[in-house]
Amino acid sequence: MTGIESRLTAGYPTLIEDYQEAVATAQAAAAAYYTGSDSPLTDAEYDTLLDAISSAEMALIPPGDIIEHGLFDAVAAGVVVAGDVPHPTPMLSLEKVKTDEDIEKFLARLVAEGETEVLVQPKLDGLALRAVYRDGKLVQVVTRGDGRAGEDITDRITRAQVTVAGLPEYVESRYGVPSHSDFEVRGELLMSTDDFLTTNANRIASGKPGFANPRNATAGSARVETLNYEVEMSFVTYDHTITNPDDTDAFDFADELTGAAVVDARDPAAVLAAIEAFGAMRADYEFPTDGIVLKAATAAVRDELGTGSRAPKWAVAYKYEAQTGETVIRNIVVEVGRTGNLSFTAVYDPVSVDGSVISRASLHNTSLIAEKDIRIGSKAVVYKAGDIIPQVLSVTNDETTSPWVPPTEDADGYPYVQRGKFLTSTNPADSVGALIRYAASRDVLDIDGLGSEIADALVNEGLVGALDDLFRLDATTLTALPLGETSTGGIRRLGQKNAQKLVDGIEAAKRQPLNRIITALGIRLTGRTFGRRLAAHFGSFDALLAASRDDLLAVEGVGPERADVIHAGVQRNRDVIESLIALGVTSEVERDENAGAAVLAGMSVVVTGSTKGTKLEAYGRNEMNELIERHGGKASGSVSKNTSLLVAGDGAGSKLAKATDLGIETITPDEFAERLGL
Ligand code: IVH
Repeated sequence: MTGIESRLTAGYPTLIEDYQEAVATAQAAAAAYYTGSDSPLTDAEYDTLLDAISSAEMALIPPGDIIEHGLFDAVAAGVVVAGDVPHPTPMLSLEKVKTDEDIEKFLARLVAEGETEVLVQPKLDGLALRAVYRDGKLVQVVTRGDGRAGEDITDRITRAQVTVAGLPEYVESRYGVPSHSDFEVRGELLMSTDDFLTTNANRIASGKPGFANPRNATAGSARVETLNYEVEMSFVTYDHTITNPDDTDAFDFADELTGAAVVDARDPAAVLAAIEAFGAMRADYEFPTDGIVLKAATAAVRDELGTGSRAPKWAVAYKYEAQTGETVIRNIVVEVGRTGNLSFTAVYDPVSVDGSVISRASLHNTSLIAEKDIRIGSKAVVYKAGDIIPQVLSVTNDETTSPWVPPTEDADGYPYVQRGKFLTSTNPADSVGALIRYAASRDVLDIDGLGSEIADALVNEGLVGALDDLFRLDATTLTALPLGETSTGGIRRLGQKNAQKLVDGIEAAKRQPLNRIITALGIRLTGRTFGRRLAAHFGSFDALLAASRDDLLAVEGVGPERADVIHAGVQRNRDVIESLIALGVTSEVERDENAGAAVLAGMSVVVTGSTKGTKLEAYGRNEMNELIERHGGKASGSVSKNTSLLVAGDGAGSKLAKATDLGIETITPDEFAERLGL
C-alpha cells in the first residue's frame, strides 16, 4: 500500500502534493499494466488508489487543481501505448461494477430493455488482440494498444518458437476443407496454467529469470524481439467477436467460453450466486482471470443499449478481491543462481490461498526485502500473483524480531558484492558466472575486455558452461553476443571490435603460467596461493590429475581436509582440464632459467612495503610471488626464523623490524631485481 490514499482521505496538510503524487503513481502503474511490464501496484492497490483519487477530486481538491489525467474515462487509462495500426472499430474497455447494488442496477437496465438472460463469463486476463484472416489465412495480428490503434505483432506471433493454440495460420471449414473466408476475430492472447508452466520452464532453462505471472509472460513473449526458448500460448475469443458470424466457413472460433453461465437477468440473487460459484473455482480455472464479465445475451438488446465512447453499455466487469492468507515467515533462504546472482526465498508456515497450500515465496532482491521490511518472524500477508506465483504482499513486525541483514560472505569466506539490483557471489566454485568473472580477473587469467556484463551474457546465451568453453569462443559468435536492449527497444550487441579484443585477450590467456590456469578452475580451497603451490609441486596438469589424496598432503600447507576437497575438485574437473590441454592452454610449468642455477633455490622469501619507483613497480603482489617461485624460491607472507630473505620497499613496518631482530638478510626491491637479472 502506498499510504497516499489514507493521507488523501484524512485531508493531510500537503493534500495537493499528495494528490499529485497519487495521480502520478496511478499513471505509472497504468502505464506498466498497459505496456505489459511489472506494475508497482497490485490490482487491489490500484483500485484503492483510484477510489481515493476520485473521492479527493469530488470533495477535497479545488477544481482548478484537478489534473486531467484520463485515469477514469480514457481508453487504456490515458496511457499512450506504442502502435500505429488503426482498428476498424475501436477495441473498447468495460465499465467496472464494484458492489452488489452496482450489479443490480446493471441488471435492471437490461431488464428494462426486455432482456431475460445475462451471460456470466470469466474475465480473461491476457493481451487483447485482433486477428485478420484473408482467404482463410492469418495475415495480421494487432494488439489493442490505446483502443484506437495498436501494434502489429504478426511476426512475433507466427515465428517458429511460438505456438498459439486457437489461432491457426490456416483455417478449415467445418467440412475439413481449407476455408476461403475473410474475417476478423477479436479475443484474448493468454497462457493457460499449462502454457505458463511449460514456457517459464523453457525460459529458465535458457538462462533467463522466470516471469512473475502468466500475464507478464504473455506480454513479454509476444513482444520481445529475440526468443531463444519455446513459447506456448492460447487465444480465446468471446461470443460476439467474429466480424462475419454468418459465414458458415467461420469454423469454431466461437467455441463456448468454458466456465461461462447463462442466468435469468431478472433474478439478481441467481446472478450473484453464479459470480460467487465461479469465484470459488477460479483458482483451478485453466486461464488467468481476475473477474467476471456480465453481458446482455440478446443481440437486439445490445443494439438498443448501444456503446459509449469507451465501453459498451450492455456489458460490465466485476473484479474479485485478490485472495490472501496470513502466516509467519520462518526463514529467508539464500541461493546462488547460474550467473552468480543470489536469490532469496521466504519460507513461511503453510497457508491455504485460492485453494492450494503455499509455503514459499521468491523475494527477488535485497531492496525488496528492505522496502517491505521482511524479517524472520514477520507476520505476513501472502497471495498468488496472477493466481499462480506466491508472493509476500505485506508484513507486520513486533519487537521480538529484528531487521533481516543480508549475508556479506559465503561459507568459504568469499564476499558477496552488489551488482546493480543484485547481490552476487564471488566464489568461483558457486556458479559459472562467478567462475568466469574470477577467471578473467587481473590476478588470474587477466583477460582484457571480459567484464561482468559480458560474463553474464556468455552464461545466459549458453555459450559458456565451464572454463574450457571460454577458449572455444570465436569472433563471429562474439560479435553477435546480445548485451541487452537499446533505448529504442533494439538489441545491443558486443560488436566486431570488442569481439576481436576479447578473442585476443582469451588467446593471450592461454599462455598464462600453469599456476594461474589451475587457479582459474575455481576449485574450492584453492586460491592464488594454492594455485602456485600446486603448480610448483606437480609441475604439470598430467601430474596433478594423477595425484592421489596422499600426494596432495605433501604440498606445503595442505592438510587432510584441503587434500580431500582439492582431490575431489581436480577429479571433477578432469574433462575440463583435458579439454584445456587439447585446446593448447599452458599445461606445464615453464622455467625461464637453467634448472639448478635458480638463484632463490631453497629460500623462503617475504616481500613487504611498496615497490613504487623501483624496477619491480609493475609487479602486483601475486606476480611478485610468481617471480619468486619461478626462480626456485618459496613466497611467504610472514617473517619467521625460517625466512631467508626479506625484500623491503618504502614504508616497510613490522615485518622489517622483526627481520632485523632475527638478523635476516634484507634487501631493496631494486637489489632484488638485480639479483634476479631483471
Ligand atoms: S467482451 C468491449 N468478454 O477485457 C469489449 N471481453 O476490460 C468487450 N475481456 O477489451 C469484449 N474477458 O480484452 C469480453 N469474457 C470477456 C472478456 C473480455 C476479458 C477483455 C477484453 C476487453 C477488456 C475490457
